Amino acid sequence: MHQSDDLPLKEETAMPLGDPKRGLSFKLLLMTILFVMFADILIYFPLISNFQKDEIEKRLRTGVIAAHALTAYPEAPPRDIQADMLSQVDAYAIAVRTDGMKQMVAVADTPPTVDRSIDVRQTSFLDLLSEATNTLLLGDDRTIKATGAYGADGEIEIAFSERGLRRAMIEASGTIFLISLTISAITGMLVYYSIRFLFVQPMRKLGIQLERWSHDPEATAYHVIPSGRTDELGHAELAIASIQRRIGDMFKQQRRLADLGLAVSKINHDLRNLLASAQLVSDRLTSIPDPTVQRFAPKLVSTIDRAITYCQSVLAYGKAQEAPPNRRLVALVRLANDVADVTGISHHASIEWVNAVPDSLEVDADSDQLFRVLLNLTRNSVQALEQTADSAMVKRMTISGSREGSVVRIRVADTGPGLPEKTRETLFKPFQGSVRPGGTGLGLAIAAELIRAHGGTIVALENQPGATFEIEIPDRSASLADARSRKTG
Ligand SMILES: Nc1ncnc2c1ncn2[C@@H]1O[C@H](COP(=O)(O)OP(=O)(O)OP(=O)(O)O)[C@@H](O)[C@H]1O
Ligand SMILES: [Mg+2]
Repeated sequence: MHQSDDLPLKEETAMPLGDPKRGLSFKLLLMTILFVMFADILIYFPLISNFQKDEIEKRLRTGVIAAHALTAYPEAPPRDIQADMLSQVDAYAIAVRTDGMKQMVAVADTPPTVDRSIDVRQTSFLDLLSEATNTLLLGDDRTIKATGAYGADGEIEIAFSERGLRRAMIEASGTIFLISLTISAITGMLVYYSIRFLFVQPMRKLGIQLERWSHDPEATAYHVIPSGRTDELGHAELAIASIQRRIGDMFKQQRRLADLGLAVSKINHDLRNLLASAQLVSDRLTSIPDPTVQRFAPKLVSTIDRAITYCQSVLAYGKAQEAPPNRRLVALVRLANDVADVTGISHHASIEWVNAVPDSLEVDADSDQLFRVLLNLTRNSVQALEQTADSAMVKRMTISGSREGSVVRIRVADTGPGLPEKTRETLFKPFQGSVRPGGTGLGLAIAAELIRAHGGTIVALENQPGATFEIEIPDRSASLADARSRKTG
């Protein structure tokens, strides 16, 4: 990992990386040595059994040469020659059997009795194993009779002391042990350094980097840069780098939201103060006897009141969510007129305003929140209709409403250009629906949130001239789904 090559691998890092004797590479070194030694023990027994067989065969071969020499004598060979031959073979006696006749070719003065017999021609692998173990564990003063081939169909027997054979086997075992120890140590070291280089050191660097990142997760300096390895560690690096990137993005977004929240609170705070001043001035307007002033002043006062209440509630609530609706029965026709007056559409020079809501229609809703919903929809319609410069075009905005059982349906329609195709998908999502210059894309998102809080729905109807939004609000006692299923059922 070249990104961390410049990281000093010092022990004084904040993360305790542990005693190297308990580290991964040390454990692997020990385990490799142990495993190789175990494998060596497994092959030791076959090796030592073969060694014993070779040793016996060696004696038999020397015995055959001696027998050939001694049988050349017409009579029994002289004792000193027999003794010399026996010492060459390291045996007590040599006998041959040819044509069914056994002939003692050399024999010590006082040959001991035979304790064990081994025929090297007929010994299986398991027999060899047991003979070797027998010699190593029990052998010392015993005498072995070994039988082998002599000529084409003859047989040779030699009797010898087990002591020499056992000594040779113990010496060979020492050599085998030393060789296997050397192999274990070399293999262990090779495994140790390759694992250390391939795995432990990159892991260690990764660990240090993650540890530093955990102290300062916003710093990109500690982000892992994948080394491009294609093994498991390379996959882990990629996954960690992607997690770090995502967490970094989340931090950025969080900071942006926190900044935004603070900005909104500040704006709201001072806006409330400005509105309070405007409220004082508008209160004084109500005392002017002019009939036009008398007509509009109360609307101005109530709108400013609403704005102050809203600012106040956002400040007090301190959250991005709206306060729960405070529901009462509201006369929709009057609420729609208020919205029209406030947006200026009721006396607009080029836009016709139709309030088709029946006088008797009452909605079970929070009047301030429903006012804000209608205000957003009406403002959108006014903006869309004002865009159209063609004077021959009909510019009309209609608000209508009806009650079906416990559900009130409100429609806000205009004869403007209609909803742009690309906004349809994200229409009610904050900051995403706007294509209008100067638009924030919050109006419809706020409207949808307020309607949802009433248990209702808001949708943009398809296949209508212009744009039509339909709102359904169920009374408090009924959920919209229940009300709909009652209607269809
Ligand atoms: N009556 C309408 N006729 C045509 N397009 C509309 C209408 N109402 C909404 N739109 C489209 O939907 C988009 C999203 O509306 P929304 O009220 O959410 O945001 P905005 O009006 O752009 O900004 P703001 O947050 O100031 O309301 C608008 O930009 C506009 O393109
Ligand atoms: Mg809008």
